[in-house]
Amino acid sequence: MHNVLVTGGAGFIGSNFVRYFLETHADCHLVNFDALTYAGNPENLSDIEGDPRYVFVRGDICNRAAVEEALKEYKIDTIVHFAAESHVDRSILGAAVFVTTNVMGTQVLLDAAREHAVERFLHVSTDEVYGSLGPQGKFTEETPLHPNSPYAASKAAADLLALAYFHTYGLPVVLTRCSNNYGPYQFPEKLIPLMIVNALNGKDLPVYGDGLNVRDWLFVGDHCSAIDLVLQRGAPGEVYNIGGNNEWKNIDIVRLLLRLLNKPESLIRFVKDRPGHDRRYAIDPGKISRALGWSPAVTFESGLKSTVEWYLAYRKWWERVMSGEYMEYYGKNYEAR
Ligand code: NAD
Ligand code: TYD
Repeated sequence: MHNVLVTGGAGFIGSNFVRYFLETHADCHLVNFDALTYAGNPENLSDIEGDPRYVFVRGDICNRAAVEEALKEYKIDTIVHFAAESHVDRSILGAAVFVTTNVMGTQVLLDAAREHAVERFLHVSTDEVYGSLGPQGKFTEETPLHPNSPYAASKAAADLLALAYFHTYGLPVVLTRCSNNYGPYQFPEKLIPLMIVNALNGKDLPVYGDGLNVRDWLFVGDHCSAIDLVLQRGAPGEVYNIGGNNEWKNIDIVRLLLRLLNKPESLIRFVKDRPGHDRRYAIDPGKISRALGWSPAVTFESGLKSTVEWYLAYRKWWERVMSGEYMEYYGKNYEAR
């Protein structure tokens, strides 16, 4: 595994993965293939732009010719596929782009990977494909898929396509399904960064419904280490759940963040619930732990503290995101394919 194409590497998890991979694999070459949608921010990786092992290609995964050109030009043997529309609330407002990117884009990539005899295709997915849990139990890899939001449905469709390409064509696909991530460079539309940024700006913190929905949180660096392990040693055709056994009610996270930021709880506003809001997610990471020896390295206490510190130190980063200035980096520096 030497020539790796990462899709969606300018987003939150993708940019953390690109940095992690270059740090841990001295002999690799890495192509970051990203369309730079609103969620893609080249500033996430400005520190590694000069690395001779790294190249950025602005391209859309739905564009077969662009994908093929990159696979050919850089002699790609491995694909790690993060690119997606990733925000549930946006999928409720408009599902079309979710189907286009997440389903059709994945199918284009799978076809191109077949054509170019790619040796490894890691498809990054989410626990949301399993639907919602009651108070008991956890998602295992055998849990039936029951996606509830248009986002989750589009990811489930992509998962099934990826697995079908393994069964039908023998494409060496491995699939990961992770719980909610948090950490540096997360776009401030998702719960944790939105609450931090709003609190720092003295704005209300909008908590949906009764605030008692539960999510299972994992530090993004631990997701990256799990993906790397599955990439190296996962069995083709297999699914690996990734999670930190770390369940929190939304309202408790919001209160914890306010304490860390030394801001008052009076900023909390309970607002209208998200339509179809999944009540609880919880991952059983037993398979990846037994089969590959993976476990998270970062506790929630230290991960959340370091994340808050990051948003304090990188105020400029999120101010440029909130004002839209980060978009100016786009056209100026990269030609679209
Ligand atoms: P993100 O929204 O921060 O980033 C998505 C990236 O994909 C952006 O850089 C965007 O420009 C790029 N992209 C979008 N459409 C594209 C297209 N058509 N062609 C090329 N690039 C395109 O997302 P994220 O939170 O980093 O999530 C990355 C992946 O991990 C997604 O597949 C998501 O479903 C999955 N995932 C996310 C979480 C989470 O908590 N954020 C948890 C589990 C799994
Ligand atoms: P989010 O970060 O959007 O991730 P997901 O919906 O994919 O799990 O939301 C995490 C939880 O926080 C979810 O239960 C919805 C809730 N939430 C709020 O209460 N207020 C908000 O402003 C946001 C963005 C999310």
